[in-house]
Amino acid sequence: MTENTQKQPAFKQPWPRSTAAGRWYALGRYLAMFPPTFVQDAVGNLTKVGEPVLDPFCGRGNGPFTAAVMGRPTTGIDVNPVAWIFTAAKLQPAEDPEQVIARLNEIWLARKPQDGRSRSQFEAMAWAPKVRALLRAARRELDWKGSEVDRTLMAFIALHMQDKKEDGLSNSMSPTIAYSPDYAVRWWTDKGLLRPPDVDPVAMLTDKIRRRYHYGIPDQAQGTAILGDARDELPKQAGMEAGLLITSPPYCGVADYWNDHWLRLWLLGHNFRKDWRRSARYKNKTDYETLIGSVLQEASRHLKKGAAVLIRTDQRRQTAKMCIAAVQETWPNRKLLIRSTTAPHKSISVHHGRGGQTAKEIDLLLPGKRGRNWWEKQGFQPVKLAGDYVGQTTAPVSQRLTVAVATGRRCQPVD
Ligand SMILES: C[S@@+](CC[C@H](N)C(=O)[O-])C[C@H]1O[C@@H](n2cnc3c(N)ncnc32)[C@H](O)[C@@H]1O
Repeated sequence: MTENTQKQPAFKQPWPRSTAAGRWYALGRYLAMFPPTFVQDAVGNLTKVGEPVLDPFCGRGNGPFTAAVMGRPTTGIDVNPVAWIFTAAKLQPAEDPEQVIARLNEIWLARKPQDGRSRSQFEAMAWAPKVRALLRAARRELDWKGSEVDRTLMAFIALHMQDKKEDGLSNSMSPTIAYSPDYAVRWWTDKGLLRPPDVDPVAMLTDKIRRRYHYGIPDQAQGTAILGDARDELPKQAGMEAGLLITSPPYCGVADYWNDHWLRLWLLGHNFRKDWRRSARYKNKTDYETLIGSVLQEASRHLKKGAAVLIRTDQRRQTAKMCIAAVQETWPNRKLLIRSTTAPHKSISVHHGRGGQTAKEIDLLLPGKRGRNWWEKQGFQPVKLAGDYVGQTTAPVSQRLTVAVATGRRCQPVD
């Protein structure tokens, strides 16, 4: 909802917008996405064509989609339906845009008189009556779990229901995260944005669908998007023999993928009226440790011998320390490398309009059989013990590790 005035690194698409892959890559707005070329570099250097790739915390699917377009069969898992709908729509979009548009028109005709009514001040200020009618009808009618066409359409509606004014179906909102209803009403009131835009939702969505399909749908290897907790879903899958595990887990105590996506989750059938403040921030360290440890253990059974593992995670000490420990426990006999990322991304506080700085991340790598020439040039350094990692200053990890090694000083364990 805020205009972010901080200078961000240029957004570099892995494929030009004038290609099907470039158009579909960008489908879905989500928190803490992989930077566009990160996956492309890793997949290209660490695997060969045809080698499966696994991402057990796949978010909006940047990892699985990129790998699939690069000819690697891919599996992405996420517990959040918003993440899943974007990932699934990209991995297996409906083939014919006209079918998606026809379904949009059916949904429009299926609206009921009461669908357009606003139930709260938030709804009255967020969407015009026609948009509210379409959203309610889509929420009720679309079989987004069972039908490819319905899922593709739902992904388009979810994407555009919450956008900057003029770009989408709503009054001005952050396209990435949704604020609480009270906060949103105050914000619109302060800015004088008292009325939602009077858009024709069917015409606008038809145009958006046609533009997305302008170059068709991308050629890609088999992609599977699984909705569920990775701890439950991984044991159910047949062995994947993946050549690369590439993922970015949630960060301990940082993003709340439940509340921050409450509006899109409402569209997908959840009810937040009573409990939208339910937190899913992984504040409890033991729960977080158990989550990361169990997912990596389960994921390790799906990797072939000598597969590479690349995990992008938060540089802050709590998350970093627990992720390092979980990797070392899962693969005790493998050499673990670490680097500080060079591209800062918007921190959650920037997203929430509370100012703040860009956040930094680290990459943890267990190199596999491939890509030595690549990773040797990427600034990775060995990690010996999780306790050797001091994640409490703002210096890049690589510098801190260098200091610790150079002085022979035993680093202070992270609490
Ligand atoms: C940092 S985000 C991943 C973003 C992703 N790399 C992208 O490019 O969009 C972490 C994801 O982990 C998911 N997650 C959290 N707990 C999970 C669990 N138990 N099983 C599967 N996914 C989970 C969250 O819903 C969130 O989408």
